[in-house]
Amino acid sequence: MTHTSHTAHVSDAQRRVEEDLLDRVVASFDSCENPRLKLLMQSLTVHLHEFIRDVRLTEDEWNQAIDFLTRVGHITDDKRQEFVLLSDTLGASMQTIAVNNEAYEDATEATVFGPFFVDDAPEVSHGGDIAGGAHGQPAWVEGTVTDTDGNPVPNARIEVWECDEDGFYDVQYADNRMAGRAYLHTDDQGTYRFWGLTPVPYPIPHDGPVGQMLQAVGRSPVRAAHLHFMVTASGFRTLVTHIFVDGDPQLDIGDSVFGVKDSLIKAFEQQPAGTPTPDGRDVSEIADGTWARTRFDIVLAPAKTKTT
Ligand code: BEZ
Ligand code: FE
Repeated sequence: MTHTSHTAHVSDAQRRVEEDLLDRVVASFDSCENPRLKLLMQSLTVHLHEFIRDVRLTEDEWNQAIDFLTRVGHITDDKRQEFVLLSDTLGASMQTIAVNNEAYEDATEATVFGPFFVDDAPEVSHGGDIAGGAHGQPAWVEGTVTDTDGNPVPNARIEVWECDEDGFYDVQYADNRMAGRAYLHTDDQGTYRFWGLTPVPYPIPHDGPVGQMLQAVGRSPVRAAHLHFMVTASGFRTLVTHIFVDGDPQLDIGDSVFGVKDSLIKAFEQQPAGTPTPDGRDVSEIADGTWARTRFDIVLAPAKTKTT
């Protein structure tokens, strides 16, 4: 990392003042009876003080940070979670996912959950359309759910959700629509198939303090195009992930929440108008008759994995 510590010029006397304060704050948690809470608070204290001392935080900067966090809190309500957005844009969400979803054999990798899941999406049958009126190019999505030995996982619940071609999720419209989301279950062979929309890049909500932060540092709020999946099956680790679109230029530019993993980039093969669809669906009236198809074979890790 290209980073220079600014503590080098600090005098020994000043260093002792700073370290004495740190020691006293760490010790203030010594009698905490919950060992995990004690560890969390003491480690947080050490890292927070390290940050303040490292950058020689000014009082003006401290005030700005308090003001920023206050604004993050004020804009947060039961529909908008700006703290999660902050965590996402700092990579803290993905780092937490990394820590908690250590690679297990060839199990499918996890990525960030995002704020747009709702738990009362409609069920679709195999080959059903999740669009629910959302506009976009139809995309046929199919695959399997297996364990890491390749055995099919029947009756796995697959939740899928995505934005429309304008880059908005249903919940971002004011009319209570339910669109671009559904759930289905794998069949006895562990297979699934549905119609979705070819994903497009879209910006995370950036009209609040997190958007201001991104703008101040010259970062884009745009996410690489993706389709969200959450897969649950008894005896398996719940998988929260997405698939990304191979060839999406945003993959090279960068994903604003650091969610991309190479293993999750899938070809969405473009089909010219007139190409017969897998289930005979007539798509001639949508997207000039073009459609896309992709395959996502999902491998679930067991619910409890051995730690080494
Ligand atoms: C999303 O993919 O839906 C998302 C993830 C993180 C922040 C905002 C949106
Ligand atoms: Fe998303």
